[in-house]
Amino acid sequence: MIEFLGVSKSFGDAAAVRDLSLSIERGEFTVLIGGSGSGKSTTLKMINRLIEHDAGRILFQGQEIRSFKPEDIRRRMGYAIQSTGLFPHWTVAQNIATVPQLLKWPAARIAQRVAELLGLLGLPPDQYQGRYPHQLSGGQQQRVGVARALAADPEVLLMDEPFGALDPITRGALQQEMARIHRASGKTIVLVTHDIDEALGLATRIVLLDQGRIVQAGTPTELLRRPANDFVRDFLGRGEIGIKLLGLETVAARVRPNELAEGEPIAATLSLRDALSVFVARSVERLPVVDAQGRPLGTLHFADLLHSAV
Ligand SMILES: Nc1ncnc2c1ncn2[C@@H]1O[C@H](COP(=O)(O)OP(=O)(O)OP(=O)(O)O)[C@@H](O)[C@H]1O
Ligand SMILES: [Mg+2]
Repeated sequence: MIEFLGVSKSFGDAAAVRDLSLSIERGEFTVLIGGSGSGKSTTLKMINRLIEHDAGRILFQGQEIRSFKPEDIRRRMGYAIQSTGLFPHWTVAQNIATVPQLLKWPAARIAQRVAELLGLLGLPPDQYQGRYPHQLSGGQQQRVGVARALAADPEVLLMDEPFGALDPITRGALQQEMARIHRASGKTIVLVTHDIDEALGLATRIVLLDQGRIVQAGTPTELLRRPANDFVRDFLGRGEIGIKLLGLETVAARVRPNELAEGEPIAATLSLRDALSVFVARSVERLPVVDAQGRPLGTLHFADLLHSAV
């Protein structure tokens, strides 16, 4: 759906992105990750033409990105950034309605969509829709920024560290919300982060950048199982690769059905990483597993953490 073919971008004589080739399929959740200055934001902004590339080709649905009008591109691609970019003299509702307004949606439909999105992001509409950005906390502004990006149900979502200013709990909740939106809508999402756990948790494909080049691209499991070099290993956090692999799977994948064990049950949706923690904290080798309704599903064996389903 989006294709980079040998793309480069320099600012003055400093290269920000070098000969980058990358193919993003429809419905993929691509996460661009890398250290500060590695070229993540530049790569993202070249997709919606906030930055024009100097060399190579960028295709959107098979057509050179330059052949689209920038305003059309921005209508079709939602964009959310850490510093939110909200219009300070517009209310929350007006900010969220930016693209629906451009698309001339009827007022009632816009109002309904604004309320729906505010609810989705945990900001009760009655309380928040009339406020101005400066009357919100940083994290609330970020959520409004995400709501604005989602407003007109765009084909592509571009997100540059959209959860940066949030506390871990709100951040986790929004990450889950993004994962749910992705599953439900099959939207093509490109998200920038420098948080490896965020990348592992959300991405169908991770693209690790360093000095404007791709160091490795692959699924979270591929990166963890076959890191291309020491840079990738360091980025993943050497000592924690095993733990992070356990974080990618849930208890449901390893449960032995029709077997009962003693003790306080754990949920099948728990990650194996969290299950490991429970094993160690309780000094047990078996844990009973229940489904979302609390019905017994079977038993998780400590030893089964070692046997990968893949
Ligand atoms: N408008 C600009 N003018 C000059 N140099 C720029 C500009 N934008 C980015 N750069 C430079 O390009 C390089 C890549 O920047 P970019 O913003 O893409 O990095 P990043 O990976 O998003 O970093 P961070 O994690 O800090 O946001 C950096 O060296 C940066 O200084
Ligand atoms: Mg950046």
